[in-house]
Amino acid sequence: MSISFHQEERAFRLDTPGSTYLIALADQPGFLGHMYYGRRIPDTAMRHLLRLDPAGPPFQDNGDQLNFLGDLPTEYPGCGLGDYRESCLRVETEEGFRACNLTYRSHAIHAGKPALPGLPATRGGQEDCSTLELICADEALELEVHLYYTAYEELDAICRSARIVNRGSRPVKLTAALSACLDMDNRDFDLITLHGSWAYERMIQRRRLGWGTQGVCSQRGISSHSGQPFLALAEHDANQEHGQVYAMNLVYSGNFLAQAEMTQQEYLRAVIGIHPEGFGWKLDPGGSFQTPEAVLVYSGHGLEGMTHTFHDLYRNHLIREPWRNRPRPSLVNNWEATYFDFDTEKLLDIARTAAGRGIEMLVLDDGWFGCRDTDDNSLGDWFVNEKKLPGGLKYLADQINALGMKFGLWVEPEMVSPNSDLYRAHPDYALQIPGRKPMEARHQLVLDISRPEVRDCVYAQLKAALSSANIEYVKWDMNRSLTDVASFCLEADRQGELFHRYVLGVYELQERLLADFPGLLLENCCSGGGRFDPGMLYYSPQIWTSDNTDAVDRLRIQEGTALIYPLSSMGAHVAACPSHTNGRVTPFATRGLVSLPGCFGYELDLTKLTEEELDMIPGQLENYRKYGPVFHGGDYYRLASYGENGEYDALMSVSKDKRTAVLDYVHVMSRQRRRSVLLPLRGLDEETLYRSSETGEVRSGAGWMYGGMVMPCMTGDSTGKLIVLEAV
Ligand code: GLA
Repeated sequence: MSISFHQEERAFRLDTPGSTYLIALADQPGFLGHMYYGRRIPDTAMRHLLRLDPAGPPFQDNGDQLNFLGDLPTEYPGCGLGDYRESCLRVETEEGFRACNLTYRSHAIHAGKPALPGLPATRGGQEDCSTLELICADEALELEVHLYYTAYEELDAICRSARIVNRGSRPVKLTAALSACLDMDNRDFDLITLHGSWAYERMIQRRRLGWGTQGVCSQRGISSHSGQPFLALAEHDANQEHGQVYAMNLVYSGNFLAQAEMTQQEYLRAVIGIHPEGFGWKLDPGGSFQTPEAVLVYSGHGLEGMTHTFHDLYRNHLIREPWRNRPRPSLVNNWEATYFDFDTEKLLDIARTAAGRGIEMLVLDDGWFGCRDTDDNSLGDWFVNEKKLPGGLKYLADQINALGMKFGLWVEPEMVSPNSDLYRAHPDYALQIPGRKPMEARHQLVLDISRPEVRDCVYAQLKAALSSANIEYVKWDMNRSLTDVASFCLEADRQGELFHRYVLGVYELQERLLADFPGLLLENCCSGGGRFDPGMLYYSPQIWTSDNTDAVDRLRIQEGTALIYPLSSMGAHVAACPSHTNGRVTPFATRGLVSLPGCFGYELDLTKLTEEELDMIPGQLENYRKYGPVFHGGDYYRLASYGENGEYDALMSVSKDKRTAVLDYVHVMSRQRRRSVLLPLRGLDEETLYRSSETGEVRSGAGWMYGGMVMPCMTGDSTGKLIVLEAV
């Protein structure tokens, strides 16, 4: 068991293979102080880190409660009582009072990890992890808070969440309930976040941590294109391989706040959780609220140590069966091939070309239902458009199956078009504020998915459509942010619950879908990568990374995504050229190379490709079949970043047994170079001999890593190579 209580030190310790986390019970009056988190240490007596000394004698002696609470490193800070940093828990009583502060009551240590009701979370059996449950309370409010900390046996990850229970006899409103807080001294940290916009998701931003608050958030009702529910604090000189990194990632798909704050005393507080803006949750007597889970990762081995932990945790403990470690089928999606302009014959043309080259699945995107030939109608009417698809989905799927391919389908269940039968019948199903015309985006409104009858209505239609044919994959899209966030079914003092209730509704729907169609491969999508987060990964093992399918832009988007998420989660397709996103021209082979590490597919009209391009497809698929498992299941190393050097990009993956390594190299900007690029490889076994598929050279892992690999000189923009190293 990696969790223990030390009576003498009045401390809890959590150990993972490379990290230690220490929580102190302050003797009086029972505050939960955060003592230490970082590289694994044998010591538990580390009370000096509570830093009570500079402000004078402890709390009970000098009467200066303010200085004490203002600086105390704390596990789950309350509000209104002297801790002026960001709170995790904020409350408002019926009288309008806003103060709370937690003290320790009791604890329990459990083998394994309890599930979070209604919420996605990492999983772990008794052999994988153990969980500390700290029960604390605000005695005045009779509010009980259960803090959960799960430490994994083989991963440097600690997963935290909180459950807040009203044990009093009167309602209390939570106005903030974050998932985790991490207080520590600033050690010359950089803050790393992922920001972006539509078609440019997850751009890496690294900045020096300064005074005040800085971070990233979403208030759009989705985790969003503009920010990831993630932050990392990296020592200023930390790089891919070296240095200490602390990271937080929220297993959630809605509004979030991920924030670091440097205080007047140069302490640091990092918090992550549901964004308090617009949030208010009324807890009736006996009621409880469960926060989403925050994953904390510590790495003493630079960014790649952090990345490896996230990848392993998500691949093994978040992504569910049966797709957990199963190869994902190659596919062709018709969106950029046809947009709304297709019929059965056109789709079968594409399918025949695909089948002839070995592509495993055809995905029918938007436009198959209602009378949807443009994007201004029919969302909510999930019955097939027989004009385009005579014989329905069944006829099409059967024809595709007869070609030896699987069939997949796009849906957007959370939305409604004002021009739809559903909206005409149930206008109140859309989120809207009475007296205000709801804002349309892409001509659509958002359904009030918090309401069970709305979910039932949409789900019944979906289930009928998906049961009508052999549909083995679903792309679940969501194409706008939330506005007019009001529900006809919530009382005035519960409207602040709606953002979160919406997310819970989405989770409930996806859970239902997977229960009814257990083998289904689900891919989430949100105008590209607007909801690429661990919450969605719990339901769908892969997520559409971005609507930007240009190979060069994708390098940066995929680099940012892979900082946290496994390559096996990234939908990546070879798209048409010139790119529909930005008009850029890139060679077909390079587009293949950029897509290869992810969930590989095509998103173009195969019938319009040249013979030469078509002939490349079987080779690309063969690479995906052979090396996809190394990219998806191995350890990922970022060797060079086009985003940083503006010239070339290189990533490699090494199989867990270190017998095979694959290097994906793209030379984006041609430049007259007197010397070729030298890339020191990483992750190989020093003593094993490896042969390069490029040159046939055999060298030790040490030789490849410390001597480096000379990349072949290439001319022309956007060229690239896949180089395989096999142990001999
Ligand atoms: C979103 C998705 C695209 C495509 C379109 C269809 O933008 O990200 O991949 O499915 O919707 O309308």
